[in-house]
Amino acid sequence: PSIQRADYRPLAWTVETVDLHFCLEPEATVVTNRMLCVRNREAEAGQIRLWGEDLERLSLTVDGQAPQAVREQGALLEIDADGERVVVEVQTRINPKANTTLSGLYLSNGGFFTQCEAEGFRRITCFPDRPDVMARFTVTLEADRAACPVLLSNGNLVEQGELPGGRHYAKWEDPFPKPSYLFALVAADLVALERKVETMSGREVLLQVWVEAGNLDRVEHAMDSLVHSMRWDEETFGLELDLDRFMIVAVADFNMGAMENKGLNIFNTKFILAKPDTATDIDYENVESVVAHEYFHNWTGNRVTCRDWFQLTLKEGLTVFRDQQFSADMLGRMANEAAGPEGAASARAVKRIDDVRVLRAAQFPEDAGPMAHPIRPDSYQEINNFYTATVYEKGAEVIRMLHTLLGPEGFRNGMDLYFSYFDGQAVTCDDFVEVMSEANNGFDLDQFMRWYSQAGTPRVKASGQWNAADGSYTLTLAQSTPATPGQHAKLPLVIPVAAGLIGPDGRDYPLRLEGESQPGATTRVLKLTEEAQSFRFVGLAAEPVPSLLRGFSAPVILELDEDDARLAFRMAHDADPCNRWDAAQRYAERVALAMAADPSAGVPAAFLEAFRALLGNAALDPAFRAQALALPGEAYLLERMTPADPLALRAALVRLMRTLGASFAAEWLATCEAMQVPGPYRYHPADAGRRALANLALRYLAAAGNAQGLALAQARFDAATNMTERFGALAALVQSTHPAREAALAAFHARYRDDALVLDKWFALQAGAWRWDAAAVPTLERVKALMADPAFSLSNPNKVYALLGTYFRANAGEFHAADGSGHAFWADQVIALNARNPQVAARMARALENWRHFVPALQSSIRAQLERVLASPNLSPDVAEIVGKALD
Ligand code: ARG
Ligand code: ZN
Repeated sequence: PSIQRADYRPLAWTVETVDLHFCLEPEATVVTNRMLCVRNREAEAGQIRLWGEDLERLSLTVDGQAPQAVREQGALLEIDADGERVVVEVQTRINPKANTTLSGLYLSNGGFFTQCEAEGFRRITCFPDRPDVMARFTVTLEADRAACPVLLSNGNLVEQGELPGGRHYAKWEDPFPKPSYLFALVAADLVALERKVETMSGREVLLQVWVEAGNLDRVEHAMDSLVHSMRWDEETFGLELDLDRFMIVAVADFNMGAMENKGLNIFNTKFILAKPDTATDIDYENVESVVAHEYFHNWTGNRVTCRDWFQLTLKEGLTVFRDQQFSADMLGRMANEAAGPEGAASARAVKRIDDVRVLRAAQFPEDAGPMAHPIRPDSYQEINNFYTATVYEKGAEVIRMLHTLLGPEGFRNGMDLYFSYFDGQAVTCDDFVEVMSEANNGFDLDQFMRWYSQAGTPRVKASGQWNAADGSYTLTLAQSTPATPGQHAKLPLVIPVAAGLIGPDGRDYPLRLEGESQPGATTRVLKLTEEAQSFRFVGLAAEPVPSLLRGFSAPVILELDEDDARLAFRMAHDADPCNRWDAAQRYAERVALAMAADPSAGVPAAFLEAFRALLGNAALDPAFRAQALALPGEAYLLERMTPADPLALRAALVRLMRTLGASFAAEWLATCEAMQVPGPYRYHPADAGRRALANLALRYLAAAGNAQGLALAQARFDAATNMTERFGALAALVQSTHPAREAALAAFHARYRDDALVLDKWFALQAGAWRWDAAAVPTLERVKALMADPAFSLSNPNKVYALLGTYFRANAGEFHAADGSGHAFWADQVIALNARNPQVAARMARALENWRHFVPALQSSIRAQLERVLASPNLSPDVAEIVGKALD
């Protein structure tokens, strides 16, 4: 049942205009759909093809008549039609209340909402539901006025009024042709925060953020983020909002983060609502970046869209890159006001480190497992399974490399040309890369295209040779990419390697390559295009220490033989913050894996010394220190461990955390004290960095069972005036053996018992808890008990992600319990979720896909459960693809 990229064919008929009428009723909504279908001159003649899923078809006419011939196979409907233009009218009945998949039209807390990407529109009406069909939509909504006072759809409101029987209607017109996946409607009881702003060309536009009435005090930050995003896109890319009104709606039941429907973005409440008492600094940052991401899609995604779903990274990789740049600029700008250009540089670097962490924790494992795929996949069974870290995050890295190779101006010229050629069209990744080349004097990007077709994380092996006699240093870089499922032979890629050479005094050498007359910048981008290449640097006074892949200039694994002393040296001196952080991570990884391999191993003194030096370096930005002093994530470490033994790793991490906490208790206590943030809460990178470091200090102290530290955590928990501090203190208490942890959890619950988003944090914290005391109850018992909590529901994706997702995907040391209880529980939950929401089930199913990397005892336990899921009845294509590939 797999769909191939190579099979793409244009449709014989497309749609020019579509007129939709919704008579909204929770259990029986009638959708009347009138399409003007036109022959596609670029395609061979054929039938009109429409897709429909879970629909009750009430009528179907072509030019007002019963159609001559209709062929139906599965979701596909093929209709014979003559001529060039025909009107097809379909009427369907759907049951939003019964729609637990949250794809198509569904109910959430009494309101109607839609999610159509990728193929949800066909669950609303019959339609050529493909992104290469771009039509102009007119939408009329009719609903009960009391239950749904607000009626929204894409574009402009052109008419509204009362109807008999307590009903009312609204008519919306979207002036821009769009694919069906960008259609949206909302009919609910909501209120809006409104703002009017002027665009760069001087047009006044109305911005609205719609939420339930009780949440109106949490939308200001989202609105500010929207305004900042608009300004940024104007200034950075010359791109302006093209509508008179732009709406954001928050909904509590949502499969993903958010959706860029034209003029009517629909968001998971998690990425809209924020106020100091309920949202952490990280939540504020996420709201800002997701609001920006969806807003940026208006150009990269909506005005220019994807020809087919294989091209998904065309819009997603590019838009993630844009939101990453935006966030770095915003954080940099705020930090600049507080701490000048150095503060700005550090804030940007910390953002980059965050992005690298996500890539390594989520994308590297994906690229090393059964789901490995190129950023532009060649086949899929279920497209919803391909909204992946590879398509999004690695896709963004590929765009970043283009930006590096072409420079900011060259990149901008390429973007300008992209819009001038393709505005209003559905295009491919080749179109994008070709236009980037054309805008840059034919810059050769043929080899670069391999990034779009090759899966797997490339390795770059680096070695250096110092020649004392002539003061030269020859750096040799060799690349290789491991085989991935279905793709054995790999060709060399274009890999930009940003390199610096550090002198014995810790300062960067100005770099001079052989053949150049002058030394230049201290960081140079070396272009690795062959399997192996050497670069000879000359004019060096002493043997340098190389610092490679600065700023994480390519999504690769750098293999560089560095002894502990070198890592410690770079931890202390690397001028590139990303690499300085990475040196600390590599050193910690080395220590953690050695301790996992040998249960009697302690923490080497040299590592403690290097760690202490960073911790005590008050000249360093607190946010950076918080990054560098945090251990690498467990998921990333497991990926680096062969065979992966989560229980041994957890035991090692517990010992390591305890030692780092106990050895530097005085320093951690002093740091926590020094990092106090005075005054009322504000979302600002300078304050956030201080809070992050203070919270990290509490974590280490609590792990070590330090009495003063635990008392401090308790005091901060009680006195906190914002969620970042309250939750940070609670997290420290929970990650300890302190008897006060239960009381703190209860107090937190009591305070937020009616707050769904905060309760998600409460669930996640418990699901992610480690056992610091061998006698403590296994986390699984806790998770099972929490499933019975009245606030938990398998129908709400946020709850599932918070409780089950955290346990399956962020608590390996508990989930992989030797008795297999975690694995059996996983299968139970995947099977239960499969029946109600296949997308959510598939996400949970992915938690075990890399099982073949594990130690043999776990493999047999996991295999049995994977097989149990695969054999269970009514398996959705979503889950079947994941589990099938895992067992292949
Ligand atoms: N386009 C949305 C975004 O990136 C995500 C939609 C995900 N939809 C899905 N069916 N997986 O913001
Ligand atoms: Zn997106």
